Amino acid sequence: METIIRKIDRENPGQEVLEEAGKILLNGGLVAFPTETVYGLGANALDEQAAEKTYAAKGRPSDNPLIVHIAEFTALKDIAEEIPREAEILAEKFWPGPLTMIFKKTELVPRGTTGGLDTVAVRMPSDKVALALIRAGGGYVSAPSANTSGRPSPTAAEHVEEDLGGKIEMILDAGRVDIGVESTIVDMTVQPPVILRPGAVTREMLEEAVGPVEVDKALISEDSKEPPKAPGMKYRHYAPKAELLILEGTTEECVKAIRQIAYEQERLGYRVGIIASEETFAFYTVGNIKNIGSRENEKTVAQNLYRVLREFDEEGVDYIYSEAFPEGGIGTAVMNRLGKAAGHHVLQAEVITRLQKYRTIVFVSNSDNCRAPIAAALLRRQPLLQEYDICSRGMVVLFSEPLNPRAEEILKEHGIVLKGYETLPLEAELMKEDALVLTMEDSQRDKIRNEYPETGHVYTLAEFVGGEEEIPSVYGQTPEQYENMYGLIEDYVKKLAKKLNEEAKS
Ligand code: TXA
Ligand code: MG
Repeated sequence: METIIRKIDRENPGQEVLEEAGKILLNGGLVAFPTETVYGLGANALDEQAAEKTYAAKGRPSDNPLIVHIAEFTALKDIAEEIPREAEILAEKFWPGPLTMIFKKTELVPRGTTGGLDTVAVRMPSDKVALALIRAGGGYVSAPSANTSGRPSPTAAEHVEEDLGGKIEMILDAGRVDIGVESTIVDMTVQPPVILRPGAVTREMLEEAVGPVEVDKALISEDSKEPPKAPGMKYRHYAPKAELLILEGTTEECVKAIRQIAYEQERLGYRVGIIASEETFAFYTVGNIKNIGSRENEKTVAQNLYRVLREFDEEGVDYIYSEAFPEGGIGTAVMNRLGKAAGHHVLQAEVITRLQKYRTIVFVSNSDNCRAPIAAALLRRQPLLQEYDICSRGMVVLFSEPLNPRAEEILKEHGIVLKGYETLPLEAELMKEDALVLTMEDSQRDKIRNEYPETGHVYTLAEFVGGEEEIPSVYGQTPEQYENMYGLIEDYVKKLAKKLNEEAKS
């Protein structure tokens, strides 16, 4: 089947296209369309055969019921029996919008649409294209998310085309959706109502409108013995192809942990994807790093979540590591979907970072323009099992200078260029518990130990690797002496790498 793709203006949907699409629905065909949450795969909800086609196109198990989309409140009365007062209040407040409510169904709704259940899920979307299409298609449009079962939901028409191109009659393309995660589902057949799937309408918002609302236990606890009440929530939905791991903890710990694992996995030859945020993405060094949005504005994270997961699929990464994002607002829905995408594979960042004794390795010389930067440059080229922030600092650096020209020359002879290098002074902020500080001379070490008595790991490079001699300054001396100095540093740095790697393995 050839899928017709029609661009459509969200603010001003063209009547002709809508009629064309509406006709397809009335004839039992399938039309994917935008909603404010995600793209839906529309079919006539009152037509059992259309439901069958929907399941076939998505490759979805047919016990997983569809949501019926309506465009007027009065339509609810034809498909739902027993509409409690609370539902009216919620409809008044949140419809049209990202809220789905579950009711006892009427005879009008075929069981093919409800996955064999006596209940029906109903939603009135706010997207104008969606509303117009529902009207054009007869008023009751069933629509699961328009993805292949098990893939992330589509937040743009291209995603729908990727999954369902050739399998459905039409796609209405109105660009990116607004919210990015599926609607909140609330079961209204019980008292108090129960949230079966978190979304943009939060528990707080619901409770403010109708008093106490519960949350399906299967959503709260991973090891709940009871299956989730929304049949679809039991499947490993939203799953990217790569293995996804979520790191929890302070933002700083998360970044550290992800850097470490990403580094180690890349070393082993795997392709690594990183879900980073506006605030953190600049701190990552290896891997395919994607900025998913701002930690301060969870809406932006929701908007980009599925797109980012899809991109990683396309780019064929083996592992994805994600920061955990703040709950609250739509953040709860984001973490619910991310958690499901990860198969609830969540780790405390600290568990990873604790395994690594040193995070930062600081080489210290007098003016940071020769010995220390050479040592740092050489260590960066060593095959290290763990990831470190490797840097150099000077005991006395009043203003930044470039590398000493002789140091530059000797590095160049060995094929190393330090672009834009500038000297920096040793500062308190580097002197953390997980820093390994290695000086060139004994006197430098002693001075630092005096000044920062609480920093545990300050040694001369020589003593740390079991070498005999300090690394002397060769400032103003012969090329031969520069070469000797370089050779000594190189020897020590190789030993250092070996020692670090041995510690990493133990
Ligand atoms: O935002 C959304 O809700 C999107 C857009 C297209 O409207 N639709 C959507 O549909 O996410 P779908 O089919 O991907 O997810 C519907 C979820 C499934 O988890 C399903 O099991 C649950 O709703 N559901 C549907 N009818 C139900 C019912 N009668 N009882 C319990 N859960 C139901
Ligand atoms: Mg879905």
